[in-house]
Order: sequence, then C-alpha cells, then structure tokens
Amino acid sequence: MKLCIIGTGYVGLVSGTCFAELGNNVICVDKDKEKIKNLKSGKIPIFEPGLEELVKKNIKHNRIKFSSDINSSIKRSNIIFICVGTPINKKTNNADLKYVFQVTRSIKNNLNKYKIIVNKSTVPITTGDKIEKILMNKKNRNKFEVVSNPEFLREGDAIRDFFYPDRVIVGTNNKRTNRIIKSLYLPLIKKESRYFNTSRRAAELIKYASNAFLATKISYINELANLCEKSSVDVKDVSKGIGLDQRIGERFLRAGPSYGGSCFPKDTKALIHTADKFKVNLSIVKSTIKANELRKNLPVNKIHKILGKNLKNKKITFLGVTFKPGTDDMRESSSIKLIPYLHKKNAKIRYYEPTGEKKEFNKLKNVKFFTNIEDACNSSDLIIIHTEWNEFKQLNFKKIIRKKKINVFDMRNLYSLKKMKKNKINYFGIGR
Ligand code: UGA
Repeated sequence: MKLCIIGTGYVGLVSGTCFAELGNNVICVDKDKEKIKNLKSGKIPIFEPGLEELVKKNIKHNRIKFSSDINSSIKRSNIIFICVGTPINKKTNNADLKYVFQVTRSIKNNLNKYKIIVNKSTVPITTGDKIEKILMNKKNRNKFEVVSNPEFLREGDAIRDFFYPDRVIVGTNNKRTNRIIKSLYLPLIKKESRYFNTSRRAAELIKYASNAFLATKISYINELANLCEKSSVDVKDVSKGIGLDQRIGERFLRAGPSYGGSCFPKDTKALIHTADKFKVNLSIVKSTIKANELRKNLPVNKIHKILGKNLKNKKITFLGVTFKPGTDDMRESSSIKLIPYLHKKNAKIRYYEPTGEKKEFNKLKNVKFFTNIEDACNSSDLIIIHTEWNEFKQLNFKKIIRKKKINVFDMRNLYSLKKMKKNKINYFGIGR
C-alpha cells in the first residue's frame, strides 16, 4: 500500500519505518527541510534504539522515502497518516491542534483520488469530526474517510511496541475502511495482537484514558511508597504482591520520583480539559496530577535528610538525568527541577548520562558532565541513581566512589537492601 506519513517526530518516524519494514511503500513528510535532508542519508533526529538501522535498511530496499513536498506526497498516496505534535497549550491546558488542522488543509488541497486519512496524533474527542468537517465540500464527498488510530509506543521500546502491540485500536464506522486498515496491520494481528474496531470518538478517548490510567497506577504506588517508608515495608514487595493479582497486573507499579516524559503530564491535563468541556468531573485524574505535582518535592527532602540542611560544596553525582532509560528525552524529567535547586544551594553537581551532555544544564557553572561513571562518582558525597539505565544496575560503589562513607540515593530501587547493608553502604531508596 502507498502510505504517506506526515510528521517525522517520534510517532511518525517509528510508524513510517515499521510500516516500510512490513513491506509497504512509505513516504515520510516533514516541513523541516534540514531534518528531511538528514533522514535521506539515514541520520535520525531522535534517540531510539534500533531505529537508525531499520531506517537505513528500508531506504536501501527502496521501501521508505523522505520528502518536504507535502502536496505531491499526499497525491501519490492512498492512506495518509497524520502524526504531528499536539503540544499542551499552557494557557488552557488543552492539546493545541494547530498542526493537525494545518495538515488537514494540505490534504484537502490535494484530494486527487479517494484517500483514507488516519489520525495517529493524540487528540481530544471530536477532533476526527472536525478534521472531517474541514475536508468536506461538494467536490470531496465520497473521496475520503477519517479514521482514528491512536499510537501506544513507549520511547526507548518503540520498535518492539510497534511490532508486538497488545492491541491495535481503529476508530471508524465504515466497514470498507476498516477492512483496508485491518489488512495493513495483518502481519501484527497474525502475531496475536488484538485488533479492536470501534467508533472514532471512542478510539480518541481510549488513547487519553490509557495514559491517564497508567499515570494513576504510578501515582497510586508512589503514594503507597510514602506509607511503606513510614511503616518499614518495602514497596517492591507490595508492588509484587498486588501485581500478582491478574486483575491488577505487575507492570507500571514501580515506585519512583514524579512521572515525566512528553505524554503522561500533557495527556492527563488535556483529558481533564476535555471532560470539563463536557461538564464531567474526572476527580481521580485530577488527584493523579496533584499527587504527581506534590511528589516533585520528594527528592529534595530526601537529599537534605541524607546530607543535612547545608549543601554548600557537597559533591553530588547524578547517574542518568533523562526521564527514563532508552531515550535522550529530558521533558518533565525530575532532574530538570532538582539539579538547578541543588546548584542554587551551592552544591557541586556532576552527572553521567549515556545519551550525552544536556543543554538544560549548560548555564549552571557548578554542574559538570562526565563521560564515564567512575570519574563522575569519584569521592562524591552522594550518588543519586536518577534513571534506571542497565549500566547502573551492578555498580561496585566502593570501587567507584573511593571514600569511607558511601551515600547512595537510589530513586529507582535497583539494589537489594540486604546487600547494601552488608557492604556498609548508606543506601536510601524510595518507599523502603
Ligand atoms: C507513554 C505510554 O507508556 C505509551 O503507551 C504511550 O504511547 C506514550 O506515553 C505516548 O502517549 O506517546 P512514555 O512516555 O514513552 O510512554 O514512557 P513510559 O514508559 O510510559 O514512562 C512514563 C513515566 O512513568 C516515566 O517518567 C517513568 O519513569 C514513569 N514510570 C513508569 C514509573 O514511575 N513507574 C513505572 O512503573 C512505569
């Protein structure tokens, strides 16, 4: 099938590349000419394990092309995927749909034959209706169908998530369109991914409802972690114990700092905005947002508990600064607030991050980036395991810190309490 993917951000680039890998003829479009130039030579604008190899392979096999010519790209294709950003409007807390509607207008101008317009951008309920309204005129009647097909990829695991999704959600009431989209996903359905055809509005809501549910699950275990900490219970045991109930499930029950990234914080707020518009009070999601906000103070309090009130000249090392492993994304990472706070308190901050130096900390003169763990940790007063990269999971703290008193604040609960105690390491986790 001839697919046109508009927007080569996270969702667009991963989906376009994976559809090409499944044997489709794909053209990925972006208005950023520099990005397209780089992509044509296989250079990837984001950090996503395995993606560059897959892009190069499909360029070589002539299954994927990159272009900044949106008009001709739309004209040549049968299925158009809208994969542009829907950033949060900071004033209204709603998803900003200007890019979605810009693309819709380009599609309208290039409807030379029947096309299926598939929206993969995360959008509030009724956006599909609005897209349809923009596209519709006398001439265009029967020339298009608008479908909602939300994306559930996680940064860092995106390729695996594409090829082995738990489910593919397709929102359309049109049987023929559903058959065509189903055939596109057939290789994944054959591998036992569930395919669910529903209404367009339901599909739009399923995306937000999924992210808000996961954010709530995390906030729930995070609050329980506070109780665990006060009552000498290890939250890891509680996560395991409740997760063994199949109705609850073990995943997304890892206690930690406030959740971050580009999706949960934005999508929970946008869902509230939509519900308010429909005059419905989503009090649980509101509590989730509030609990996550409150949690942002937790690391600061813990650091003061370990090092005392005065942090002047204290050497503090961060292992990882991104919001999660497998990505270079800093959006809503807890380090963004934490590091400037410690800097203001005149601590000396060092950080090691597998995806390299971060521009967010460039202007802070007492914050230094190191290219290896040992140098970053040497003689530190406190090591903070901020992000759970695999390379932080089996460290020999004594060897790398080379100090008598070893303080470790593990924000991801990677180590066994027993072993740390045995090795006389002053070890602090979260909720244990
Ligand atoms: C999330 C969803 O998991 C994807 O399904 C969805 O497609 C994506 O948003 C999106 O809407 O585009 P992502 O933001 O990449 O994916 O990251 P997650 O792995 O979900 O992690 C989000 C945050 O939750 C991170 O800060 C992570 O550290 C935190 N988290 C996750 C926990 O604190 N505990 C957990 O058990 C799991």
